[in-house]
Amino acid sequence: MNTHVKQLYRGRSKYNQQTARNYEEQRSEAKHAAEMRLVDRALSHIPRSHRVLDVPCGGGRITAHLAGKGYTISGADLSDAMLELARANLAAQGFPCSVEKQDLEQLTLPDRSVDTLISFRLFHHFPEPRIRQRIIGELCRVADRYVVLSYFSPLSITSLKRRIRELRGGRKSEKHSTSLAEVVIYFQLAGYRLVKDYARLPLLHTLHLAVFERIDEGQA
Ligand SMILES: C[S@@+](CC[C@H](N)C(=O)[O-])C[C@H]1O[C@@H](n2cnc3c(N)ncnc32)[C@H](O)[C@@H]1O
Repeated sequence: MNTHVKQLYRGRSKYNQQTARNYEEQRSEAKHAAEMRLVDRALSHIPRSHRVLDVPCGGGRITAHLAGKGYTISGADLSDAMLELARANLAAQGFPCSVEKQDLEQLTLPDRSVDTLISFRLFHHFPEPRIRQRIIGELCRVADRYVVLSYFSPLSITSLKRRIRELRGGRKSEKHSTSLAEVVIYFQLAGYRLVKDYARLPLLHTLHLAVFERIDEGQA
C-alpha cells in the first residue's frame, strides 16, 4: 500500500481517545435522529435476513441502530479508540455484535463475505478520484449483494458555501464533495448498479446515502 496515499486524508488518523469521544458527544440528538432516518430509508431495500457489515463503525451508533432492527451486523474501524467506544456502547445496549480493526483501503475479508456493507460518513474525507475508486472497489469486493454508501453532494447549499469560501481564499475544507455521476461510474466499474440515492434534505444538506446492487452475471 502506498503510504503517501494513506496520509492524504486526516480522517484516517484523527480519531484518538479524545477526538473519538468528542465525535460521539458533540453530535446533537436531532442530527443523529435525522441521520438514522436517512439510514432507515436506504435500508428499506435490504432484507432483514442479510448479514451486514458497518465500516467504518466509529462508536457503533449505526451498528446498534441496525442490530435493534434485527439485522445480523458487525462493525469495523481503523481507530482503536473508536473500536473501544463501539464495544462499550454495544455492550451497554445489550447487542453482542462483533467489532474488529479493519482498514477500508485494504479489507482483510474474503470476497462476497457479507450480504450488505454500509459505509457512513467517511467517503467525503477522500480527496482524490483514485482513492475514491479504490475504496469503492474494495467495498464491492467484500459485499455479495448491496453496498450502501454516504457521500457529500456538490449540489447543496452547504457545498456551495464551502466552495465560495475556498474561492475567496478562505480555509480549505477537508470535506470533499463528489457528484453522483462520479460515484456511479466507480460502482459500474466494480459490477454494481445504482438502486436509489437518498438525501437528508435535497439541496439543503450535503449528506447523501446511495444504495447499489451487484449486477448478476445473467443481468449484465
Ligand atoms: C466520521 S466517523 C464516522 C463513523 C460512523 N460511521 C458514524 O457515522 O458514526 C469516521 C470514521 O472513519 C474511520 N476511518 C478513517 N479511515 C479509515 C479507514 N481507512 N478504514 C477504516 N476506518 C477508517 C475513523 O476511525 C472514524 O471512526
